[in-house]
Amino acid sequence: MKLISDPKKFTAMAAKAKQLKKSIGFVPTMGALHAGHFSLVKRARRENDIVIVSIFVNPTQFGPGEDLKKYPRCLKKDADSCRKLGVDFIFLPDKDNMYPKGYSTFVNVEVLSGLLCGLRRPGHFRGVATVVAKLLNIVQPDTLYLGQKDAQQAVIISRMVKDLNFPVKVKVMPIVRQKDGLALSSRNAYLNEKERSSALVLSKALRLAEAMVSCGQRNAGRIISRMRQLIENNKQAKIDYIAIVDQEELREVKKIKPGSLIALAVTIGKNRLIDNTVIDYN
Ligand code: PAF
Repeated sequence: MKLISDPKKFTAMAAKAKQLKKSIGFVPTMGALHAGHFSLVKRARRENDIVIVSIFVNPTQFGPGEDLKKYPRCLKKDADSCRKLGVDFIFLPDKDNMYPKGYSTFVNVEVLSGLLCGLRRPGHFRGVATVVAKLLNIVQPDTLYLGQKDAQQAVIISRMVKDLNFPVKVKVMPIVRQKDGLALSSRNAYLNEKERSSALVLSKALRLAEAMVSCGQRNAGRIISRMRQLIENNKQAKIDYIAIVDQEELREVKKIKPGSLIALAVTIGKNRLIDNTVIDYN
């Protein structure tokens, strides 16, 4: 496994791989890798000749007062995990070679970026779309692997790939959870014991919603209000939003259908957590 920091060197390597007709699977990350990332890497390993993971804590997707400085960084551990999983290359750029002096081009996926998490985090998805567009140009993958945990991010990146004709297939892999239901996230590292236990309200609320749907409830408003009640019973939890939307446009739906996305963001202590489920029934 090789670590490369220089975008030009990386693109030259990717071009060589293309010439040799090798398929490239790419998993973009901000590091602090966990089993959710590993599931993407494993899938990429099964499906491609070359697997590339990028590790870059992208400053343009953090707002003022967000956790850019304290975002967990553990390169050695991440590199060991990647090596064990058979990753071929880690792309490890730094801020100055991704955003050199004078950098002034940004990608904004209109409308979608301003909904749900975008309301609370203005500019976040502009930063995400910009860095992913740059990474796709540098890495030139055949397939991009994303996690469903960041459902809105996956929708926005898929939209950008389509709108800007990036020649890449996007695969969105299921959320990985701990045994008790907590969705894996690098930010779970911030939770103390009490907060971690409170954080279970997110997955509990989603399980409640799924149970209501399997009992025949289709009214989105009723489901949201029961989820709200459940979460508000926890004193540490502060709801940012609970939304039931269609997966393409992220527009609120009144009536649940197969494929509807139930997404929520809840702050536990100082930690804003997100989770979601896609409704599936016949
Ligand atoms: O999901 C993440 O870790 C980041 O948003 C991504 C896609 C690597 C872009 O910085």
